Amino acid sequence: MRRAYIDSIGMYVPPKVVTNKDLEKVMDTSDQWIRERSGIQERHHVDGECTTDLALKASEEALEKAGMTAEDVDHIIFSTMAGDYFFPGCGPIMTKRLGIPGTPALDIRMACSGFLYGLSIAKSFIESGAYNNILLITSEVQSVALDFTTAGRDTAVLFGDGAAATVIKPTDDDRGLMSVITHSDGRYAEDLMQRAPSTYDNPFLSHEVIDKGYGWVTMNGRNVFKHAVTKFPQVINEALEDAEIDKRDVKLVIPHQANLRITEAVAKRLDLSLHDVVYSNIHKYGNTTSASIPIALYEALAEGKLNRGDYLVVASFGAGFTWGASVIKW
Ligand code: UT7
Repeated sequence: MRRAYIDSIGMYVPPKVVTNKDLEKVMDTSDQWIRERSGIQERHHVDGECTTDLALKASEEALEKAGMTAEDVDHIIFSTMAGDYFFPGCGPIMTKRLGIPGTPALDIRMACSGFLYGLSIAKSFIESGAYNNILLITSEVQSVALDFTTAGRDTAVLFGDGAAATVIKPTDDDRGLMSVITHSDGRYAEDLMQRAPSTYDNPFLSHEVIDKGYGWVTMNGRNVFKHAVTKFPQVINEALEDAEIDKRDVKLVIPHQANLRITEAVAKRLDLSLHDVVYSNIHKYGNTTSASIPIALYEALAEGKLNRGDYLVVASFGAGFTWGASVIKW
């Protein structure tokens, strides 16, 4: 059977590091609060770079690792919550930046679940035979839509900027994406949202949007937390069942990096070891939305945590609400 597998990954974070101590200087917060509540120690913020700048660096690394040139890409899937422009999307812009005009590209706006939704589309594209070499890009510039005053502290301290790109290809052997499950529930849309666009120069910004703070990301953290710790284990079990894999056979679980306490709760509910099985690198990057899972996967691979033939589970939960999980045989 023709299956889709992840052939290579590239990642890029902007060089500017923002520590918890740096945030203490601009708002009423503390390093201790941020570490205890979220596990985050620092994150990266852009300093003039835009979403496709980060995406380009990550894509170049992924393509090089796959032994490909941009001309080999059949289709781009681009996940972001903060495009370079309000429209058009970053997918088409990447065809320009990679020098491959004419290549099909689509954008998805599935927030923290963007990587999972991207995998789901890539899986269908490849299994159906429609495309062979898919470049799935997740790139997030969130710092431009965060309120770095005390009023925005419950959200601003959590998010970071970053990008990852994966090359997804077909294979006839037994590795690859065994199951991808996705869900959404718009009843909770207003629990984590950015009501109006605020990034870069755009004609949609009005005085009202600015005065009412509609351009900032806002979150009902407690409700998001409550749903996250339930939905993560549920959807992971669903994906395992669909792939007919026992959780005891899973080598590594990479949840979306939203909060170390959520990751700990997920490990506990699934009865899996936080350090040996459930991966976290949130201390270095904060929550990079749809880029967080592939960035974590990139680092887990570099740390030798996954070998050919191992079972990997990736899972997400975030704005929408949206959530999903995938079982991958590496
Ligand atoms: O990727 C999308 C998914 N996102 C998530 O999954 C995030 C889910 N939610 C969370 O991770 C947590 O709810 C937070 C980290 C956002 C907050 O943690 P919490 O334990 O739920 O704190 P809280 O909202 O209950 O706030 C506790 C206190 C409040 O003060 P009072 O009302 O008790 O006096 C807040 O005002 O902490 C205060 N607070 C802060 N203090 C210092 C909120 N933000 C900060 C801050 N620094 N940055």
